Amino acid sequence: MQLAARVNRISISPTAAVLAAAEKLRAQGVDLADFGPGEPDFPTPEHIQRAAIRALQEGHTKYTPTAGIGPLREAICKWHAAQFGSSYAVPECVVSVGGKHAIFNALCSLLDAGDEALVPAPYWVSYPDMVQYTGATPVPVMTEASDGFRLRAEQVSRAITPRTKLLIVNSPSNPSGAVVPSDEFVKIYEVCRAKNIWLLTDECYSHFVYGDEKPFSLASLPGTKPNIIVAGSLSKTFAMTGWRVGYALAPEPLISAMIKLQSQSTSNPTSIAQYAALAALTGPMDTVATMLEEYSRRRKRIVAGLRSIPGVTCVEPGGAFYAFPNVAAHLGNGISDTTELCKQLLERQHLVSVGGDAFGTPGYIRLSYATSIDRIEEGLRRLEKFFAMAEAAR
Ligand SMILES: Cc1ncc(COP(=O)(O)O)c(C=O)c1O
Repeated sequence: MQLAARVNRISISPTAAVLAAAEKLRAQGVDLADFGPGEPDFPTPEHIQRAAIRALQEGHTKYTPTAGIGPLREAICKWHAAQFGSSYAVPECVVSVGGKHAIFNALCSLLDAGDEALVPAPYWVSYPDMVQYTGATPVPVMTEASDGFRLRAEQVSRAITPRTKLLIVNSPSNPSGAVVPSDEFVKIYEVCRAKNIWLLTDECYSHFVYGDEKPFSLASLPGTKPNIIVAGSLSKTFAMTGWRVGYALAPEPLISAMIKLQSQSTSNPTSIAQYAALAALTGPMDTVATMLEEYSRRRKRIVAGLRSIPGVTCVEPGGAFYAFPNVAAHLGNGISDTTELCKQLLERQHLVSVGGDAFGTPGYIRLSYATSIDRIEEGLRRLEKFFAMAEAAR
């Protein structure tokens, strides 16, 4: 079939492909050690659920304004201001069908063929494909494992060309968990501002930072507004992945363009989900602290477990809920790359993981620890067994 060039430029999300393969096994009753999911294993808090039921009963089941209901746009601006010290107004805010949609619409509104977008690697799988869809070119910016995969301003500087239009920063990062230190983030912003380059900051994991780290947004700095796009999501912070609510905060002309695009494609995000999101952003946030505490415990266990497996090294993730160990020592001898490794892990040990090739960093695998400590223990046992058997077969 002759499909459009723009859709042929992209491929199905590799994380979605892994989840589909795992789902097939699960349906057959296979006991999976599932390190695949990019979503909290906690339920959506009850007060948010109740708000959705109320919205349904009160008849909020019709179209809403394309950009989202006024009270929700207002609540997003207020919540962001309270959490990070930003100062956005309603016309600078759009509610979208998840953070992914907000990023997609921002990239479609800004990038043209011939433009370059800098994508620090390891990167979230969707960034390069989204950039490619617009006709622009994604340019990976390699970060160093020895530096905890933190993006540095000089790495950004070196990658800039006259065609660079935009940089995407995701801190904390999926898949590495790296958190860009706030002073470095400011330097990165200064580099972009000096060259008139947009900085899209994906704050999807903002509230999952460990140790002394605190949630940080570049938007807290006065004067950054004209050069940055904040992409946010309720998916992870409020355990609302299926509800599909995200947002963007950016200068009004860009937000207007994104609303125009939304008006000709998805229209408004689901009305009921918007009322649930309103309850999330105006209600208590104690569930966030509960999740963070539990993730923190799991992080400690999984990192220690991985480090104890011969031939595996693992940088300590500063945020999010992913471990990103280096398993390169186990490649070769019938395991060509980490995509193949993850395939074999699924087939032989029923362990779900995602290969680092998909994130622009061969030699690594991503393990989500949004699963119970018991399952983490079980997964670590399977991983150790797999590598021991592979080594014995060498
Ligand atoms: C880095 C990153 N950004 C954005 C998203 C989008 O999340 P959502 O569309 O559910 O808001 C995800 C989801 O996995 C992600 O990992």
